Amino acid sequence: MFLRQRSAQAENFDQLARRQSETLLAFRDLDRLNAVFRHSDPFRVTLPRWLGPARCERLEILDLGAGTARLGQRLTAWAGQRGWRWRFTNLDLNRYALELGAAPRAVSGSALALPFENGSFDLVIASQMTHHLATEALVAHLREAWRVTRDAVLLCDLHRNGGLYVLVWLLGRFLCAHSPTCADALISVRRGFRIGEWHAAARAAGLTEARVWLYWGARIVLQARKHGQTANASSATCPPADGLCSSQSRK
Ligand SMILES: C[S@@+](CC[C@H](N)C(=O)[O-])C[C@H]1O[C@@H](n2cnc3c(N)ncnc32)[C@H](O)[C@@H]1O
Repeated sequence: MFLRQRSAQAENFDQLARRQSETLLAFRDLDRLNAVFRHSDPFRVTLPRWLGPARCERLEILDLGAGTARLGQRLTAWAGQRGWRWRFTNLDLNRYALELGAAPRAVSGSALALPFENGSFDLVIASQMTHHLATEALVAHLREAWRVTRDAVLLCDLHRNGGLYVLVWLLGRFLCAHSPTCADALISVRRGFRIGEWHAAARAAGLTEARVWLYWGARIVLQARKHGQTANASSATCPPADGLCSSQSRK
């Protein structure tokens, strides 16, 4: 059945050898899609409630697959308006993407073999990166994120479902009909993960108390905290009145 299995089709984004002009256009398109889909919202909604305002005052954050580091810039500005100091380190396989964004603290490298000591960051995040990985690499990705955080991990990606696929297809018609980025957006949904898949990988990677949930039915979110703080915090993260946390089923 359609979308039952993850697609193994590669995205244009994953062609590191493509021309810089194409990479530039791809990240411009991605930025427009991110603005429409408000890619920073899951982090702005979740982090203060989950970690608490006092913990949010000062955070050293690692963004995996940061691309042009726009997410870090947006979240740093947003946190600054609240008097919080968030400092991002931006890691990506694609060195040119990091250069394009003039990303501060840019590190070229793989999310599967992080060039950092254990416990180097307060928080490790990833946005729309995890689906780029092969299914077999998911456990290594989670294990590495867990290793280099001293406190929390918050991952967010596209959820593999038919409703999102149709929505992305429709929006693509209006926003970037002929661009490889729109083709990538559809492949991204087909490469997305489901809750049960992330749960199983989290257990295998040692994140035994990870919480995995859906954000508006479109994004899959994993949150895990060291020192056993996940269980209490997560109930505050998804109050049903929000309408944000739509499911915890293991489909
Ligand atoms: C769709 S972009 C997302 C960029 C940004 N996080 C955002 O939300 O807009 C995916 C990024 O993940 C990067 N990426 C893919 N596989 C990676 C890996 N194994 N390690 C680090 N970065 C990776 C790609 O180079 C690309 O910049």
